[in-house]
Amino acid sequence: MFADRQKLGYKQINPAISLQNVVEEIADIDAELIIASGDISGDHSRLSYLHFIEILKHYDLVDNLITLPGNHDLNPYFGEVLGRFDLANSPPRQLGNWMIHGLDTRFQGTKGRHDQQSLQRIVQNIRRARKLGHVLISHHHPIDTNSWMDKHEWLNREQFLSQISSLESLQLVIYGHIHTDSTRIIDNVKFESCPSTCWQWAMTEEFGVTKDPPGYKVFELFDDLSFQSTTFRVT
Ligand SMILES: [Fe+2]
Repeated sequence: MFADRQKLGYKQINPAISLQNVVEEIADIDAELIIASGDISGDHSRLSYLHFIEILKHYDLVDNLITLPGNHDLNPYFGEVLGRFDLANSPPRQLGNWMIHGLDTRFQGTKGRHDQQSLQRIVQNIRRARKLGHVLISHHHPIDTNSWMDKHEWLNREQFLSQISSLESLQLVIYGHIHTDSTRIIDNVKFESCPSTCWQWAMTEEFGVTKDPPGYKVFELFDDLSFQSTTFRVT
């Protein structure tokens, strides 16, 4: 989002309008949680966050909102306006037989780094509730994309991957940052990146934007600890 609601980004997309189109569809699916995985502001302005929350409010979705901070949210306004929705800096949320955890990966510029204490807290919470299914959400990508986006990397992701590898009840890791829909399974953990509500990055060696429309991903978490995800594009 930009302070100027008329401003266009890549592919001539107006992020406020594309967010509104996505949110309008989400409003119809009666989701228990709506997760914005970070990079909510495109210009570090307070107003950009106010526009974001106004759109969610318009569709009466604020009570179900969860946000994660992205590299573009490394500013005082994210906390000021969206602090109460920030899962990475609050206790995990339980939904039926599932627990949802958030990890802050903001560091310097576009690069990410988690702090060891925060990850340790999540690991302990997961170990204490082994019978639940667990979902962990971060902003940066924990696994390489083999594209230009790997320059904007999560620096200590190997440490993250090694620490979570011992957690049998961690089933799903969700992230944003790469503006791409992807799914990969590593050691029984599913890693899912989500499309952006505005432009989609091309996973190519050189910088690029695809023609894919804005989108969102729906995760259904069932009581028997199985789950499924479906990606939707909004044209
Ligand atoms: Fe990002």
